[in-house]
Amino acid sequence: MAVVPVSLAGRPYEVRIERGLLRRVGEECGARLRKARVPIVTDAHVYAAWGEAVEQSLLAVGKQPAWRVLPAGESTKSWDQLSATVDWLLAEEVERGDHILALGGGVIGDLTGFAASILKRGCNFIQLPTTLLAQVDSSVGGKTAINTEAGKNLVGAFHQPSLVLGDPDALDTLPRREVGAGYAEVVKYGLLGDAAFFDWCEANGPALLAGEHEAREFAIARSVEAKARIVAEDERETTGARALLNLGHTFGHALEAQTGFSDRLLHGEGVAMGMVLAARYSARKGLMDMAEAERIAGHFAVTGLPHQLSALGLNCTGAALVQHMLHDKKMDAGTLPFVLMRGIGSAFLARDVALDDVAQFLDGELHP
Ligand code: NAD
Ligand code: GLY
Repeated sequence: MAVVPVSLAGRPYEVRIERGLLRRVGEECGARLRKARVPIVTDAHVYAAWGEAVEQSLLAVGKQPAWRVLPAGESTKSWDQLSATVDWLLAEEVERGDHILALGGGVIGDLTGFAASILKRGCNFIQLPTTLLAQVDSSVGGKTAINTEAGKNLVGAFHQPSLVLGDPDALDTLPRREVGAGYAEVVKYGLLGDAAFFDWCEANGPALLAGEHEAREFAIARSVEAKARIVAEDERETTGARALLNLGHTFGHALEAQTGFSDRLLHGEGVAMGMVLAARYSARKGLMDMAEAERIAGHFAVTGLPHQLSALGLNCTGAALVQHMLHDKKMDAGTLPFVLMRGIGSAFLARDVALDDVAQFLDGELHP
């Protein structure tokens, strides 16, 4: 088993990564589960695929799961579902020292983590991530949130889990497109600070996507190690270190907004395209070789992820995409920091990017 410590002062926790963890949830959580009844929040797809296995693992250690099964999908990260879930937790008489289990992808992790952060001014929760995206990114680091009419993830809290159990077997039931979207976040760790890991992705990404467990386990552990290091350095995204995790996200967010945050472009797919754009823009500014930027695009091409803006069928201008960026929650006193690259494995935060130049660059990418 890979065990990655997240070393936060006063609240350290472990991320455990191994095949079979979901079938041993009861055992792995151990004494954290203080009472006979254990509250678990999940969604309908995950419940259908993994509910029985998790239920049996809890029954095996004398625990009785209390399930809250929410609709699958991004719309679950809402005020209504948050309030109903908090009411349910109160009805379950969850106390501050108890642990709530969050079984699912980023939607369930974000919603449950936020509910845990406000329940009785903060109670414990355990992340049981079942998507690749959640295993390598959203379950680690304590960002929790819901969406509002004004935009995605605009209401939330930093609230760290007590434990994260990442089981690569969970991905066996995940639709292939969702695995690909999560894989973009894996590649991100290589691009932002670990060139050798990007080399590994080039050699092993196709096997990982095809379902090879060893490759999945290695990639999850390497990604979590990187995220844990960054979160320990800059938990609340104040020094700039954590902001590097937004590589590809500013461009990606604009693309997601332009496609209505719909199934047309999953978040990870937007991030893949966004990372190619960040690389090409960095090359345009003379910061990195265009050949390196094209190497990144080439890897997304062979792994079936978006890599050509003109192929997305967007009927818009570069200026329209930049308009979406102005609503990005990373806007800071009228400026928008961009994560750019000096090469593969060498990302940095640029605070002096001119948005009209970005719009012109995007026009060129939309109509090459
Ligand atoms: P998701 O939670 O919506 O899961 C994707 C789909 O896969 C859903 O239909 C879900 O029901 C299904 N699913 C999940 N696990 C499954 C499994 N093992 N088998 C079968 N089906 C399964 O999406 P996601 O990509 O995991 O997460 C996206 C969310 O994460 C967004 O809301 C995003 O804002 C958030 N996010 C948060 C952070 C953070 O740091 N907190 C980071 C990145 C993304
Ligand atoms: N997913 C970005 C972060 O956790 O900071």
